[in-house]
Amino acid sequence: MLSLTVNASSKYDITVTDTLIAFREKCVPYMRGRNVAVVTDSNVNALYGDALSEYLSDKNVLKMVIPAGEDSKNGENYFKILNALAENGFDREDSIVAFGGGVVGDLAGFAASTYMRGVTLIAVPTTILSMVDSSVGGKTAIDLPAGKNLCGTFYQPKAVYINTAFIDTLPRREFMCGAGEILKYALLSDTVKAEDLKAGVNEKLIVKCLEIKRDIVEKDEKERGERALLNLGHTVGHALEKLYGYKVSHGECVVKGLAFSVFASEKLYGLDKKTVSDMERTVNLLGHDVSAGFSAEEIAKLIVSDKKRYGENVNFIALKGVGEPRVEKISLSALYELLDDYERKNNTL
Ligand SMILES: NC(=O)c1ccc[n+]([C@@H]2O[C@H](COP(=O)([O-])OP(=O)(O)OC[C@H]3O[C@@H](n4cnc5c(N)ncnc54)[C@H](O)[C@@H]3O)[C@@H](O)[C@H]2O)c1
Ligand SMILES: [Zn+2]
Repeated sequence: MLSLTVNASSKYDITVTDTLIAFREKCVPYMRGRNVAVVTDSNVNALYGDALSEYLSDKNVLKMVIPAGEDSKNGENYFKILNALAENGFDREDSIVAFGGGVVGDLAGFAASTYMRGVTLIAVPTTILSMVDSSVGGKTAIDLPAGKNLCGTFYQPKAVYINTAFIDTLPRREFMCGAGEILKYALLSDTVKAEDLKAGVNEKLIVKCLEIKRDIVEKDEKERGERALLNLGHTVGHALEKLYGYKVSHGECVVKGLAFSVFASEKLYGLDKKTVSDMERTVNLLGHDVSAGFSAEEIAKLIVSDKKRYGENVNFIALKGVGEPRVEKISLSALYELLDDYERKNNTL
């Protein structure tokens, strides 16, 4: 069993293990009230619906199951959760357990942060993406018809419990999605090696990823500066997600974005050839497809309409080397040119 402490606006521990018993030791003590709401989705419920129940037997458990998928991260489900809590007499001492991937984590986290101005949140992430990304940083959200994550809060859980056994049942697509985010960490810091992924995702690798995110978030919890580094690969990645109509997973789009960032960093900073070829090798080994699939024009247009733009410039995260990410303000025309070069390179491969 491994653990790490996050010192954000409030302090909490993340336990990374492969046994269920640790849930009782590390999470149950934070549940002070009699009532516990377990929010989960249909897939996780079918696989692990009863997994936590033996440790919650002396509580009144209210289980809420949302349909699996991003579409569930909406206002309707948010109010359903709040109303169910109120109707079942939940008060400020009671707790919410977010038991699922990032969708459940964001939705249940948002509910926990707002019900009675905040109740205890325990996070039990079950996808690689939610383990290595959502468990640190305290972001909660729901989507609005106008866009993803437009409504949310910063709210820290009281404890996070990660059980690597949950990874075994992840469909290949979700595994690849999480792997994409791990590749990002392998570029942000030299403590994570892309090759580690070949042996699968184990406790040690998860902790190493979380340490990188924690160290960045602790310096900049509300995303005013340093935290932007975590957007490596995401400027282009997010644009592609939209262009693919969210049919290609977030992590796959991030990998495409990372491949472009590496290419652009070579042009901007002369990033060394070895980093470029190592990245290409790992991506190939994992079977990710790095071609953008859309023209430079289509991608640039979407980036312009993205909220992270600043006037004529775009905040772009580039690499001087592995572990040396930098926030670069580059002009839209420079970005367009890089995208165009990248497209041409991919077409001639
Ligand atoms: N709060 C944050 O910091 C943060 C960070 C990154 C992403 N996110 C959000 O997270 C969401 C994406 O998260 P996600 O990729 O985990 O998606 P998800 O929650 O939709 O889970 C992906 C799929 O895997 C299934 N699943 C979950 N655990 C499983 C398991 N152990 N075995 C088998 N199937 C399982 C789910 O039912 C779902 O079908 C997005 O909404 C994104 O905005 C939030
Ligand atoms: Zn991401």
